[in-house]
Amino acid sequence: YQTMALNLKDYVASYPDFPEPGVFFRDISPLLENGEAYKQATNEIVDYAKKIGAEVIVGPEARGFIVGCPVAYELGIGFAPARKKGKLPGKTVKETYGLEYGQSALYLHEDAIKQGQKVLVTDDLLATGGTLAATIKLIEDLGGVVVGTAFLVELTKLHGRDKLKGYDILSLMKY
Ligand code: PRP
Ligand code: HPA
Repeated sequence: YQTMALNLKDYVASYPDFPEPGVFFRDISPLLENGEAYKQATNEIVDYAKKIGAEVIVGPEARGFIVGCPVAYELGIGFAPARKKGKLPGKTVKETYGLEYGQSALYLHEDAIKQGQKVLVTDDLLATGGTLAATIKLIEDLGGVVVGTAFLVELTKLHGRDKLKGYDILSLMKY
């Protein structure tokens, strides 16, 4: 006996004009706050990670951690955080990027990825793709091979896919 799959869109909240006017914000908090929904979403990404043969997961701060870490734990592989300015000690590589709202930079430890290692990149949401493109560049700077990208939500109108040409994409929900 298998329980029915949940409709994950029932666990996404929508807020007009957040965090600034003109942005229609999709919030995954209800999904995270529901154990079954979080588990179902995680399991779908685990299956994908197995299919593409991911050896390590990289996720951008902060919500990329929430999506990627349970997947890494389930598979028994490592998770490397791509972090914002002033967070990572030691030697790092850096990439700046534009956001739907604002400008930022991400850093990754130089020894986080080994040459030729197969990497899955995770995040909660694909908007303009700037965050993911920067994360991919960090991984490739270190010789990693991005074998796939996984998101809970894709905002198709912002055309983030166009910045990820040539990379495989799993998005569990599209708006
Ligand atoms: C949000 C979201 C994605 C990114 C998507 O993160 O979690 O990482 O923006 O936008 P993009 O596709 O246009 O780059 P944010 O930078 O707000 O950081 P947070 O996870 O720390 O809240
Ligand atoms: N929701 C959550 N994060 C985001 C969004 C959004 O609509 N746009 C850019 N980052």
